[in-house]
Amino acid sequence: MATGIHRGVTLPAGRVAAVRDLTREFGDRTVLDRLDLEIAEGEFIALLGRSGSGKSTLLRALAGLDDEVAGEVAVTGSVAVAFQEPRLVPWRRVHANVTLGLHVPDAKARADAALAEVDLTARAGAWPLTLSGGEAQRASLARALVREPELLLLDEPFSALDALTRITMHHLVLTLWSVHRPAVLLVTHDVDEALLLADRVLVLDEGRIAHESLVTARRPRHRDDPELVSLHSTLLAALGVSPQGTAT
Ligand SMILES: Nc1ncnc2c1ncn2[C@@H]1O[C@H](COP(=O)(O)OP(=O)(O)OP(=O)(O)O)[C@@H](O)[C@H]1O
Ligand SMILES: [Mg+2]
Repeated sequence: MATGIHRGVTLPAGRVAAVRDLTREFGDRTVLDRLDLEIAEGEFIALLGRSGSGKSTLLRALAGLDDEVAGEVAVTGSVAVAFQEPRLVPWRRVHANVTLGLHVPDAKARADAALAEVDLTARAGAWPLTLSGGEAQRASLARALVREPELLLLDEPFSALDALTRITMHHLVLTLWSVHRPAVLLVTHDVDEALLLADRVLVLDEGRIAHESLVTARRPRHRDDPELVSLHSTLLAALGVSPQGTAT
């Protein structure tokens, strides 16, 4: 968890995070190229982009996990990250994974509450290697939630899950978001997932936010909602994919 990263930039009112001119180079490759982004309090953003476009690199910068970025990053309050693979420590039981690194007096009670919220109370004493994929992801979400983040960074947390478990996880994330109201930045490859969940969908390309779509449909959303159908085509075009799935 990172708290209050400030590298120069002042946060405008109502924002939990802002990056300006964010640049990240690996050798002679510029992966993020003077990228600008502001994240409002309580906003749900989905971030799309081709593989290798720099989505995880942007998340690491926002989480304060990358010291080698150039430019300005400001984050107010606490940040929690859930990664694509749940990254649970195998020699600690689930409840100990949830409280790992959490130094507050009521850590145990907070972990119990977070595990109950993700419906994992019955598995609190289990070893991580005995969990199903969906259970492990829920444990990872509980570990993020217990930190009561103002900014929750989710890096493709559902991509390894089967379709039914994904739908359950979508409902869970929306419920947790509506109760706790963190700002969420969700990286996904799935345009439908982005449209079902987010207020704003961004496309990262050539190191910058190359496209932005606002989604106004009320939740719960259905993928056949005309607004979503139309935005789906717009986003595929922004990703350089034709509706038939071929590259344009
Ligand atoms: N530590 C590193 N050293 C060298 N290159 C790196 C490093 N981390 C990332 N890269 C490169 O930066 C580019 C962006 O990586 P990143 O992981 O941010 O992509 P991504 O958009 O998250 O892709 P994916 O959708 O496949 O997860 C990639 O080409 C990757 O190889
Ligand atoms: Mg990635």
